[in-house]
Amino acid sequence: MKQPLTASPSAALSGRIRVPGDKSISHRALILGALATGITRITGLLEAEDVMATAKAMTALGAEVERSNGAVAVKGQGVGGLRAPSAPLDFGNSGTGSRLMLGVVAGHDMQVAFTGDASLCRRPMGRVLAPLTAMGLQTDADEDRATLPLVVRGTHDLLPIVYDLPVPSAQVKSAVLLAGMHAPGRTTVVEPLASRDHTERMLGYFGAELIAEDRGAGARAITICGDAELHGVSIAVPGDPSSAAFMIAAALIAPRSDIVVENVLLNPTRSGFLETLREMGADLELLDRRLEGGETVGDLRIKASPLKGVRVPPERAPSMIDEYPVLACLAAFAEGETRMEGLAELKVKESDRLSATAAGLAACGVIARVEGDSLIVEGRGAVEGGGRVETHMDHRIAMAFLTLGLGARKPVTVDDIGMIATSFPEFMTLMAKLGARFS
Ligand code: S3P
Repeated sequence: MKQPLTASPSAALSGRIRVPGDKSISHRALILGALATGITRITGLLEAEDVMATAKAMTALGAEVERSNGAVAVKGQGVGGLRAPSAPLDFGNSGTGSRLMLGVVAGHDMQVAFTGDASLCRRPMGRVLAPLTAMGLQTDADEDRATLPLVVRGTHDLLPIVYDLPVPSAQVKSAVLLAGMHAPGRTTVVEPLASRDHTERMLGYFGAELIAEDRGAGARAITICGDAELHGVSIAVPGDPSSAAFMIAAALIAPRSDIVVENVLLNPTRSGFLETLREMGADLELLDRRLEGGETVGDLRIKASPLKGVRVPPERAPSMIDEYPVLACLAAFAEGETRMEGLAELKVKESDRLSATAAGLAACGVIARVEGDSLIVEGRGAVEGGGRVETHMDHRIAMAFLTLGLGARKPVTVDDIGMIATSFPEFMTLMAKLGARFS
């Protein structure tokens, strides 16, 4: 059953909030914890449906995942030490959980069935199966059109490879590195543009040996030395910048707002959204930059600001790939055109975000168009609103347009908020704490 929700034009937003833990880091902490020897203690783990699906999968594969004293403890089985599950692993809505785990299962001599919800079962898996089958994973899927449900068979005898990523995808990079950790020798992934680097950072933190090399023009080669051993560690998960993006956007467009979002991850492979906002003229202040658990975090103060349209270059896309729907919504409040280029990857997210965003904007009275892989939004300084937006089982489309509704002249309704729980169950409560009105 669909659950619609309406966001109404908001008065000034104010107050301090702390967004929940980063989703990408949370998945990786559970996965590497399960592959380490000893106990990994995770504080600030994101307790959203996607991450819980990964926790369940790790338990089904023989790791022990328990809550204790406000933290999550994972008792790992060692690299290559997982056991065959008795039922298919269901990753729900999560591309990250399923694709990373295909890399892990590749290094185990066992057969595993992978499945997920309707959205995940439409998403391409060939991009991970191509390198993983070259390493020795077996699957009966047709690589070009592979989707879940899938059955794969891993092996203890993986081959190390050198893989040139055809797309800048952190999920594919991570799947190959996780498989490479189980292979003898060195496995190298070459990425055309730097994508989020949490897997590399965390593998190093758990004790694996990695070499990262700059290849010029934003390209990088990451090599993992195989037959790795991981040891349990303590991890504090920083706040998710992709979740913070909605609060930041809301404060920029709700008149006279002034808020602080605490403990936001500032990793440069994730901060393209903040860079773009600064170019648009946003009043953003970084209050307390600090290092926590190997990642830079900070508190951000955001004040309502007049914005101007900008060109967002294609090479910035990997560092803000999940923020385009909310950026497009913000661009509608700017003066002038915003041109976002190089967005082919948006078509294969939880929905086709390129067309879902353009259609949502049109429903709210905004002039926007898709030209090839670019999205162009005509900013008029204000947004009419009053529309009903289709979310297509996509949490970020739902949150982006609820955010837009807080700054528009008339209320905006999204057709279904059910999927918000996959990444940010506290979205409505935290927005309401700042003064937002939903009904
Ligand atoms: C993620 C990588 C990105 C991103 C997703 C999380 C990750 O996907 O969109 O939300 O945790 O590795 P791609 O690897 O498909 O770009």
